[in-house]
Amino acid sequence: MANPSLLILPGDGIGPEVMTEVRKVIDWMATKGTTFDVSEDLVGGVAYDAHGTPLTDETMERAQGVDAVLLGAVGGPQYDTLDFSLKPERGLLRLRKEMDLFANLRPAQCFDALADFSSLKRDVVSGLDIMIVRELTSGVYFGEPRGIFEEGNERVGINTQRYTESEIERVARSAFELARKRQNRLCSMEKANVMESGVLWREVVQKIGDTEYPDVELSHMYADAGAMQLTRWPKQFDVIVTDNLFGDLLSDLAAMLTGSLGMLPSASLGLPMANGRPKAMYEPVHGSAPDIAGQGKANPIACILSFAMALRYSFDMGGAADAVEGAVEKVLADGLRTADLIGEEGRAPVSTSEMGDAIIAALD
Ligand code: IPM
Ligand code: MG
Repeated sequence: MANPSLLILPGDGIGPEVMTEVRKVIDWMATKGTTFDVSEDLVGGVAYDAHGTPLTDETMERAQGVDAVLLGAVGGPQYDTLDFSLKPERGLLRLRKEMDLFANLRPAQCFDALADFSSLKRDVVSGLDIMIVRELTSGVYFGEPRGIFEEGNERVGINTQRYTESEIERVARSAFELARKRQNRLCSMEKANVMESGVLWREVVQKIGDTEYPDVELSHMYADAGAMQLTRWPKQFDVIVTDNLFGDLLSDLAAMLTGSLGMLPSASLGLPMANGRPKAMYEPVHGSAPDIAGQGKANPIACILSFAMALRYSFDMGGAADAVEGAVEKVLADGLRTADLIGEEGRAPVSTSEMGDAIIAALD
């Protein structure tokens, strides 16, 4: 059988640094008998610098042809003034849209060793383990009409929130399936009190629950109340399903509950390919952090945990995924901290590569 294939897109800022550490885990897997066919390409600002576009058609095609894509991060201040269509973020959005990666899984798990880094009290976050399923290919991110138009003697900026029933159904199914593998509870969030798209969202999620997942405990919440409940008592949630924009906001909020954005991985999944594996891209939730890029300060854990999600969701290697997650937990329990996790204790931070090496040592 052919080796599983990976396309690595390190991107901008700290992306390449954290991806170097993921490569160490990939190399470690090879020593244990699992070899990936790895290729690498450009996305984001670096692709714009090289080719004048944040994602070339050739790279897009390569992404469509592999078992999984691993992405670092995109963006940087030097690209802020570019035309909208050329911004680094467009490269990422094109990958999500053209690969049709509609289900974005963003777990927020609080490692016990880090509970004191949260801005919330330890007992509110310790043991926290929730999963946000964000719809990723539709909604206001992609709806038409959009643009900045002339209207009378002023301009008007327009974006459109738009969801079809089938778009809601498929992401709802992904969320119900995940809930079944966890605590069997799903909370759906929208703004049905002010948005028609929210009314439809609630109706469709309820219908899928009633007809296909009556065993899963389903609840609904307005997204603003959801944000409040997430900070008040996050452990009331198991799986949350929500739209593209609310998911963007709520997943940043949930990430910060755990202490650091530098810890959180994500998986973006689409329909099954011919080999039965889902179309998939894995990326850390954090951004390109241009302020610390190139200084060895970045935390590689989110990216390494994203690779662990690839092992679990693309390659059916749950055991290896558990091992990687266990190694991360061990180095944190041992007291290793990158700069983002240094609090008042005054302990010197370890560098990006020292953290990667420690995780490999823990794996061994
Ligand atoms: C995210 C990011 C992206 C988004 C940006 C970089 C386009 O914030 O993945 O959450 O808004 O989806
Ligand atoms: Mg975001």
